[in-house]
Amino acid sequence: MSQQMLEQNVNGIRMQVTIAGEGPPLLLVHGFPLSHRMWQAQIAHFQQQYTVIAPDLRGFGGSDVTVGTVSMKQHAEDLKELLAQLEVEEPVNFCGLSMGGYIAWEFWRHFPEKLKTLILCDTRSDADTEEGVSNRLKMVDLVLRHGPEAVASAMIPNLLSKTSRDLYPEIAQDLIAEIEAADPEGIAASQRGMAERDDFLGVLDQIQIPALLIVGSDDVLTPPDIMQEMAVRLPEASCREIPRVGHMAPLEAAEEVNQAMEEFLAVAR
Ligand code: MLT
Repeated sequence: MSQQMLEQNVNGIRMQVTIAGEGPPLLLVHGFPLSHRMWQAQIAHFQQQYTVIAPDLRGFGGSDVTVGTVSMKQHAEDLKELLAQLEVEEPVNFCGLSMGGYIAWEFWRHFPEKLKTLILCDTRSDADTEEGVSNRLKMVDLVLRHGPEAVASAMIPNLLSKTSRDLYPEIAQDLIAEIEAADPEGIAASQRGMAERDDFLGVLDQIQIPALLIVGSDDVLTPPDIMQEMAVRLPEASCREIPRVGHMAPLEAAEEVNQAMEEFLAVAR
C-alpha cells in the first residue's frame, strides 16, 4: 500500500501531511521536536484498516515555521482545519505522543465533536512547574544561539530507555539526525507554547471518550505513575505499560504498541 504526501494551506501556513490507507480516520500527532517520521511503523501497520493521517505540525518536518510562540491551541486548530481540508468528516481516533498529547487536550476542549477516541502515548496532563518553564526557556535560548545540534545528543537519554539505546543504536542515530535537522525557530516556538500550556489534570474526569494510555516502563519524562493516575481520572481509560522502553514507546516497541492500539481500536470501532 502506498503513502501519499500532501501539502495543504492551513491557517496561513503550508502544512505537510502523510496519508495512507482507507477506513476510519486515525490521526497520528508527533512529539517534540520531531515529525511524522516517528510514526512510520504505525503508518505501515494501520493503513491496512484505517485512513492514517500523519501531519508535520507547524514548525516541524516539511511544514512552515512560525516565529514566536505556537500554543497547543494553535496546533489543535491547525489539525481541525487540516481535517476539514482533507474532507475528513467523521470523528477521528486521535493518537498523540507527549506534545501530541498536550495538543489532544486542547483538541478535546475546542472540538469534542471531532473526537472518537484518544490514544495518549508517553504524555501528561498537568502544566509545567516554574522550574520546568525555566528549563524550557533555557533550551529556547540555547537552540536559537547554537542550533539544534547543541541539544540533540543530550536529549537521547530522556527519549530512549537504556535498553533501547544498547540494543538499537540506529534509533538514537535517527532521532539525533531528525532533531539536528529541525528548524531552531520551530523548536523555540513550540517550546514556548508548551511552557505556557494549561493544566488539564483537574478536568480529566469530564473527558467522556474511550482512551488508551501507553507508557514505557522506563520513561523518565512522563513516567508510568503519572499516566496511571491519568487513567484513573479519565472515565473510560486503561493504561498499558510497555516493559524496557522509554519516552518513545511507539518507536522503541512498535509491535507491542501497535498490538495494544489495534485491540483498543477494534473495540471502539
Ligand atoms: C515530547 O516528547 O513531545 C516532549 O518531551 C514534550 C515536552 O517537552 O514536554
